[in-house]
Amino acid sequence: MTPPASDWTPIAEEAERAARVLHPEPNSLPRPDQRRVLTVANQKGGVGKTTSAVNLAAALAVHGLKTLVIDLDPQGNASTALNVDHRSGTPSIYDVLLGDLPLGEAMAVSEQSPNLFCVPATIDLAGAEIELVEVPSRESRLKEALTGEVVDQLGVDYVFIDCPPSLGLLTVNAMVAAREVLIPIQCEYYALEGLGQLLSNIELVQKHLNPGLSVSTILLTMYDGRTKLADQVTAEVRDHFGDVVLKTVIPRNVKVSEAPSYGQTVLAYDPGSRGAMSYVDAARELAERGSSNGSRRGTL
Ligand SMILES: Nc1ncnc2c1ncn2[C@@H]1O[C@H](COP(=O)(O)OP(=O)(O)OP(=O)(O)O)[C@@H](O)[C@H]1O
Ligand SMILES: [Mg+2]
Repeated sequence: MTPPASDWTPIAEEAERAARVLHPEPNSLPRPDQRRVLTVANQKGGVGKTTSAVNLAAALAVHGLKTLVIDLDPQGNASTALNVDHRSGTPSIYDVLLGDLPLGEAMAVSEQSPNLFCVPATIDLAGAEIELVEVPSRESRLKEALTGEVVDQLGVDYVFIDCPPSLGLLTVNAMVAAREVLIPIQCEYYALEGLGQLLSNIELVQKHLNPGLSVSTILLTMYDGRTKLADQVTAEVRDHFGDVVLKTVIPRNVKVSEAPSYGQTVLAYDPGSRGAMSYVDAARELAERGSSNGSRRGTL
């Protein structure tokens, strides 16, 4: 309930925003017709891949959509942000890719939501790029694991695969397992640097391994409204990629960067913050574009 105008304070306003983020109207986001698997990739480091994967996942989970984050980066940042155990020896994506462990046996439920699941990455994954070379069907290990029964039984609606900042075999596995690539682009100098290489790798995967793959979504991150540069980068990316770019832009927001050190997504850490709200808006756009009711935009 909205308090009378005389009681309206910034704190009341923030509390109201937080309540809206954490308790949205039921069924306010469409469930996809079939499971959507998104690879979050950009070989440039620190552009917001992990932050976007975990916060989009958390926003969809809050809306009642079952969402799985697969941490495919030996740094284990997504596992940290979701507060899922990822000490060496914990059943993890490494055992799934190289030890034939069923995905379900490495999956943990995040304490942030019963709809939010994570397959963690341990440091063991650091050697996987090399170890995979020797393994049969080395590019499709993750795809095979994802077709297991558990993901079906759970009724997972969304899978986000958080890639490391490289274009090696781990990222190729992610691209073979997914139908969609989500590319986060930081609104900074050199934002587009290396993007050509990423796109040509995606084309190679399309051609040889996964014809159904497309770049469905580009998300602009760490936008700083005080700089002209951020606007220039935004305009350039929109010019170049058109409708694939989400209208929602994620602002640079200190709450977003603080959240992982508390083992939380920004939705749990500070749901009334601009960072949390922008990830909820981005998740809504993503869900609406992908549903048969929403207007499906073009893909690259
Ligand atoms: N919107 C934001 N506002 C402020 N800080 C942010 C924002 N998004 C991300 N960050 C911070 O920027 C850093 C890089 O983000 P993140 O780890 O998500 O990038 P990444 O692409 O996954 O990096 P890597 O390539 O190392 O995996 C992190 O410290 C994160 O907390
Ligand atoms: Mg990362």
